[in-house]
Amino acid sequence: MKTSARLDRLPPYLFAELERKIADKKAAGVDVISLGIGDPDTPTPELVVDALAAAAGDPGTHAYPSNRGRAELRTAVTGFYERRFGVALDPETEVIPALGAKECIFNLNLAFLDPGSVALAADPGYPVYTGGPLIAGADSVLMPLVPELGFVPDLDAIPADARERARLMYLNYPNNPTGAVAPDGFFERVVEFARAHEILVVHDASYTETTFDGYVAPSFLETPGSKEVGVEVFSLSKGYNMTGWRTAAIVGNADAIASYWKLKTNIDSGMFEAVQLAAVRALEQGDAIAREMSAVYARRRDLVVDALRAIGVDVRSPKGTIYVWAPVPDGHTSASYCELVLEESSVVVSPGGAYGPNGEGFFRISLTVPDERLTEAMERLRSSLGG
Ligand SMILES: Cc1ncc(COP(=O)(O)O)c(C=O)c1O
Repeated sequence: MKTSARLDRLPPYLFAELERKIADKKAAGVDVISLGIGDPDTPTPELVVDALAAAAGDPGTHAYPSNRGRAELRTAVTGFYERRFGVALDPETEVIPALGAKECIFNLNLAFLDPGSVALAADPGYPVYTGGPLIAGADSVLMPLVPELGFVPDLDAIPADARERARLMYLNYPNNPTGAVAPDGFFERVVEFARAHEILVVHDASYTETTFDGYVAPSFLETPGSKEVGVEVFSLSKGYNMTGWRTAAIVGNADAIASYWKLKTNIDSGMFEAVQLAAVRALEQGDAIAREMSAVYARRRDLVVDALRAIGVDVRSPKGTIYVWAPVPDGHTSASYCELVLEESSVVVSPGGAYGPNGEGFFRISLTVPDERLTEAMERLRSSLGG
């Protein structure tokens, strides 16, 4: 069977590898603790599930949805943006639903890239920022995120040729995998850069609702001029424990959203309307959910950071996301260290190199397992690798 050239260009999906390794261990009867994938361990809140159940009972939700989304969802998103970020959006033109941030980010590549054009992608970064351009027949140019610069790209270092060819720039703060937050003034510089080079900024806001120590993450759209050059993809997956529901929205630049919508009308038929109504409930009544989940992750973050520091790992304590990003010990690559951790302690952590060349030398721990399991995982690391 001959697969397409575009598929052949793709490296294997990161978590497919991890899942295979975990499955092998489990098949051998080993109690594996996976700190690999970031998928909340606690259920979707009852108020959201109840809203879905009620809406699913209404035959009015059963037909093909529209890709524009129900008016209730669009106004719930704009209401949320106004309340949470002080950002005013037009529900008619500046917001439509997406089937998760992943779908939206992937399809933006198809909507905006041609062969020869480029997406500027954070390195390390969410794999779809680089896989998506490849499938679109285009290229990605990596923007290194290094600790010395607080894990934000050095815009001045983007080569002239890449600036010329770039149509998209992917950013994501609070950031997966580094846990970094955007420093003051950074989004302003991004707007200036995007304006100068006619680039559409795509800010992936998958973790704005998961923050710690009193830090409140901004929306990119709070930045003056951002709507002229950018869109934001807001996901309900992590903040509201809704990963399986595939709920997100793209907000911001109306022309970009119209292009995404045009593409989508040829690809999918929108979000099940009962799910849309459940998302409305989360956006309108779910502020406490996001706050409670942030408190849970803050507690787990402290547990992990303290345990890693106790075994000599020099780790930064993140102000947001559901991840801890830590350097591997000297003498290891990120892959060799993660393999060692898996072999010696049956704990799965993600190798930083899988998120891009600048992830090399780091590993990522996801905080989405119950406290007792996380404590046990840290105890295993201490006893097998603590020195
Ligand atoms: C940075 C980032 N963007 C997007 C996603 C996917 O989000 P969604 O579930 O909304 O597709 C993830 C999931 O891990 C992520 O880490």
